Amino acid sequence: MKTFTILKPDDWHLHLREGLVLKNIIKFTSDYFGRAIVMPNTKNPITTINKAISYKNSIAQALPENSNFQPLMTIYLTDETDKDELIQGYKNNVFFAAKLYPANSTTNSSHGVKKIENLYNIFESMEDSGMPLLIHGEVTDSDVDVFDREEVFIDRELLPLVKRFPKLKIVLEHITTSHAVDFVQNNKIGATITPHHLHINRNAMFFGGLNSDFYCLPVAKRETNRIALRKAATSGNECFFLGTDSAPHLREWKAFCGCAGIFNSPVAIESYLTVFEEENALDNFEKFASLNGPNFYNLPPNKEKLKLVTRPNKISEFVNIIEEKNIVGKIKPFHAGETLNWQVEGIVK
Ligand code: DOR
Ligand code: ZN
Repeated sequence: MKTFTILKPDDWHLHLREGLVLKNIIKFTSDYFGRAIVMPNTKNPITTINKAISYKNSIAQALPENSNFQPLMTIYLTDETDKDELIQGYKNNVFFAAKLYPANSTTNSSHGVKKIENLYNIFESMEDSGMPLLIHGEVTDSDVDVFDREEVFIDRELLPLVKRFPKLKIVLEHITTSHAVDFVQNNKIGATITPHHLHINRNAMFFGGLNSDFYCLPVAKRETNRIALRKAATSGNECFFLGTDSAPHLREWKAFCGCAGIFNSPVAIESYLTVFEEENALDNFEKFASLNGPNFYNLPPNKEKLKLVTRPNKISEFVNIIEEKNIVGKIKPFHAGETLNWQVEGIVK
């Protein structure tokens, strides 16, 4: 049995949802992560200071007793975002960052931004105040192939943005292509990489019938891209850090509408560890999981430590959503039914 300890990690990209789902799933993150950036694409998106405060309160209420987990809140940018509210919310520590969803690019993004140039005056203030901009980097034009949407976004939208606002703190979220890896490195911006994009390529969606369990956005791409992502994540390069994009969808919704999102928080650390071990890069895991993110965001790393061990770890088929002791829903976790070789042993003070 191998064991090692790392500083407690953070999840720099997470969907917590609301209500019963939030209450049932938050422990998977709060048990082992110090902080998480909480995405604002709730059904009624988090577009104002008041909405962020009330969402943060409901997260605090859902946390297990005595948890010291810190949710870092984001504002959902729209064509109508009020610059003063955004900056005031940032300066008063309500918003940690702003999230840019191009309109209709993913789950609950219909209120997203229609024309990015219209937000340039907002980006100017964010650049001046140091507020990070987190980007879902995909164009949505129907004439652009789904598998090319990240690449086209980078060339058409992100390059001009980076050139015009060289000091703006930008994170390209959940990158999926070697093109993105190169762009991030060359332009010294930040990028999160999910566990699923390190494990699957686009074949997974078509194996044994159309399989929406592996459908997420941006969609997994061809194998050459997965290889580039694995190299980037395990390199130790400070541009790349852990962001699970864990995105729970109840079974019935996933089956009904094939909604985009993979729920990986119950297995995220073990899933990443599997990749780092396969790439002979366990020595770099702490950088990716616990150091590069805080370094990018100018925060101290967490103080506590996490003990990790090699041990057969069978992942359950479903996580139950429970209300007053009754199972009222199910969500399929990433790696469901597989046995991974890693397990989180617990926190070491
Ligand atoms: O697969 C995804 N699911 N990608 C996103 O960008 C959003 C997320 C969700 O909220 O379900
Ligand atoms: Zn996301």
